[in-house]
Amino acid sequence: MSTEDAPLVLDVRGLKASYGATPILQGVDLSVHKGEIVSLIGRNGVGKTTTMRCLMGLLRTRGGSVQLRGRDIAALPSDARARLGIGYVPQGREVFPCMTVAENLTVGELVGGPRGKSERPVQRS
Ligand SMILES: Nc1ncnc2c1ncn2[C@@H]1O[C@H](COP(=O)(O)OP(=O)(O)O)[C@@H](O)[C@H]1O
Ligand SMILES: [Mg+2]
Repeated sequence: MSTEDAPLVLDVRGLKASYGATPILQGVDLSVHKGEIVSLIGRNGVGKTTTMRCLMGLLRTRGGSVQLRGRDIAALPSDARARLGIGYVPQGREVFPCMTVAENLTVGELVGGPRGKSERPVQRS
């Protein structure tokens, strides 16, 4: 079975976000199927981190939908999203300085989501 046929884990449609009056994300579509690894790539400033912050609930979205395993999570706070299984490892100085890189990367898996940790995407933006 290809990952395209696998169940949809994350489904993002028409995501919009702004910083103040400046629109940054203007309709991002993104889907992740079970077992799939998806990389978001692009030059500095195109909105990768902004996208991840929206998915994690760290930044308010201005439109679009975010569904995790068929459930609309767009209105949930970050801690609730984490418990549902979304892990986020930020870039730069936002990591835990006393931990190794490997340890930092596993932190996103440690919050008790309902599934095995192998399903959890780890994001480095
Ligand atoms: N806190 C912020 N306030 C205002 N503008 C921001 C802020 N963070 C990022 N931006 C701007 O939003 C755009 C996307 O940034 P970002 O998502 O960090 O891009 P990437 O992660 O792809 O390098 C850039 O133009 C950046 O300057
Ligand atoms: Mg970034």
